[in-house]
Amino acid sequence: MIEVITDIEEMNRLSREKRSEGARICLVPTMGALHEGHLSLVRIALEKADFIVVSIFVNPTQFGQQEDIDIYPRDLKSDTEKLYSLGAHVVFAPGSSSMYPKGYSTFVSVEGLSEGLCGRSRPVHFRGVTTVVNKLFVIVNPHIAVFGRKDAQQLAVIRRMTEDLNMDIEITGGPIIREEDGLAMSSRNSYLNEQERKQAAVIYRSLCAAETLVKSGVKTSDNIISKVRNILEETAMAKIEYIDIVDVDSMKSVDDISGSALLAVAVWFGKTRLIDNVILTV
Ligand code: PAJ
Repeated sequence: MIEVITDIEEMNRLSREKRSEGARICLVPTMGALHEGHLSLVRIALEKADFIVVSIFVNPTQFGQQEDIDIYPRDLKSDTEKLYSLGAHVVFAPGSSSMYPKGYSTFVSVEGLSEGLCGRSRPVHFRGVTTVVNKLFVIVNPHIAVFGRKDAQQLAVIRRMTEDLNMDIEITGGPIIREEDGLAMSSRNSYLNEQERKQAAVIYRSLCAAETLVKSGVKTSDNIISKVRNILEETAMAKIEYIDIVDVDSMKSVDDISGSALLAVAVWFGKTRLIDNVILTV
């Protein structure tokens, strides 16, 4: 059976033991409610390492005050079963009060990269992500960590943090896993009602239309963004938060695409905020 560890010391001790035995440790950080997107990262981890730790922790510091932490889906039992059948070795599921005990006051933040795109409407989000990922890195002490490209800005922020803080951890990105109609898998998709869920497929359709436009020779960001906007606006329920084309490393907007750039969108369906992205290559 897979081991479920909630105690920080115990997790740290086990990792140290595995390291001293020569194991290559890979961490896959998650907030649980696992779907195929998460599981695909575990499969990547299994190919790259021999001791796989999947953390499940709904991290309070990355949620804003008006956000969905109270209703965020949680199902540790079913998550653990999925991870066991895949062959992961440990589920690390610490409690909030052990990760952030009374008096906790240390935060890690990556400047610049955390401010555009999702950072504009979620000002404390990335500070919470980098803080918790930092803590998980210290506790688990992995050789490798795997993150999804679904959260492209998060991946860029974490790469920056590990480089800036001289962490000896290989950061690996995994491809976006989608539902049959193209909607990127997300734990938050469960918030969508039937009508919203149907309409949400427009997000990926709009990204594909942008890819087609770029293939036909269009390189100007404004033109590509207009196309995406028009397609999204045809769908009554879609409320656009942002559409941006940015450099893949700096996350800064670019006027024209040369080489490749990231087209990233955030779109609301009712009370649910969905993000998606695609790399455009000229
Ligand atoms: P969570 O949203 O649970 O996602 C965990 C990991 O799964 C992230 O690296 C995310 O990019 C990846 N992921 C989610 N949906 C995906 C999909 N459809 N295809 C591929 N990968 C996907 O991201 C977080 O949790 C948190 O911010 C965390 C990093 C755990 C810090 O709290």
